[in-house]
Amino acid sequence: MMGVVASAPAKVILFGEHFVVYGEPAIVLAIDKRAYVTAEERKDGRTCFRSTNLDLEGYYESGLFKVQQGDSKEARLRFEPAKLAVDKVMQKYGKKVGLDIEINSSVPVGAGLGSSAAVVASVTAAVGALLNMQMPKEEIFRISLEAERAVHGTPSGIDPAISTFGGALLYQIDTGFKPLDIKADIPLVIGDTGVERSTKHQVEKVRELVDKYPRIAESIMRAADEIVIRATEALKENDLDTLGELMNINHALLYGMKVSDESLEWLINSARKAGALGAKLTGAGGGGCMVALARNEKLEQVIEAVLRAGGKPFKAKKTDEGVRIERT
Ligand code: MEV
Repeated sequence: MMGVVASAPAKVILFGEHFVVYGEPAIVLAIDKRAYVTAEERKDGRTCFRSTNLDLEGYYESGLFKVQQGDSKEARLRFEPAKLAVDKVMQKYGKKVGLDIEINSSVPVGAGLGSSAAVVASVTAAVGALLNMQMPKEEIFRISLEAERAVHGTPSGIDPAISTFGGALLYQIDTGFKPLDIKADIPLVIGDTGVERSTKHQVEKVRELVDKYPRIAESIMRAADEIVIRATEALKENDLDTLGELMNINHALLYGMKVSDESLEWLINSARKAGALGAKLTGAGGGGCMVALARNEKLEQVIEAVLRAGGKPFKAKKTDEGVRIERT
């Protein structure tokens, strides 16, 4: 397929998921796994989507969705945020054209790595470029955020922010994002449990506990805030031991909020036993992915242990490149 190609990175939350929804800070890194989107104009008014990795295909015409490949509900779930982003771009710039959009992503879906936001940011940028519009990153972020919120109810905005801007961000709902200048290498292993879950549901589970135990939740939030403050210092000083400890404490808080599960605990414990300095769930939990920090010489052992415990592990590196146009 010819046309404009854009890409955006997935993310890993190092500290502060869930608590970020309540106004606490979080630290998030863009990683070297990207979603790629190709956009091309078509003559009729349809907006057609195809996901090569998920083997799904369908189109929107006069506001109605029709599936052509794969399960209809699944296809709609995956394409809806991207369709909303397309509508917003066209509305904003007063254009209306038919589109073929092809999604090609190596980011595991529904696993806490922000696969949806990476796709939505890429679609927004690709369609903008196809229609010859100057879209600053702030605009791509805003449109991606609105599209993600409408569909996933993702409250904090951390996923679209990191997919758009890349690098490492200190993110807080009130104050927005602040780039973190991390020079050091942070050797990470990400382990996918293969258990899919809904972010919305996980966020609701935390909400129930916060409502039931407001004073306990308050203390947990204060601890989460302090973890991020200490972690920011440790990142600046490249103090991996402290970072690992803080990851373990952060995970304990998340476990207390009922967002871990058996599949995650297996992988986390096996990574720690294999010599990881720290390990925790990342993203919404309840399945999805865990992340472990390990010295370079221990990385292979940690990967091996996560694999043996039933996970799908891979090494992850921070990438500074946010959303970008690959080809016009
Ligand atoms: C999801 O990647 C992170 C959560 O904190 C939800 C959010 O911040 O929108 C669980």
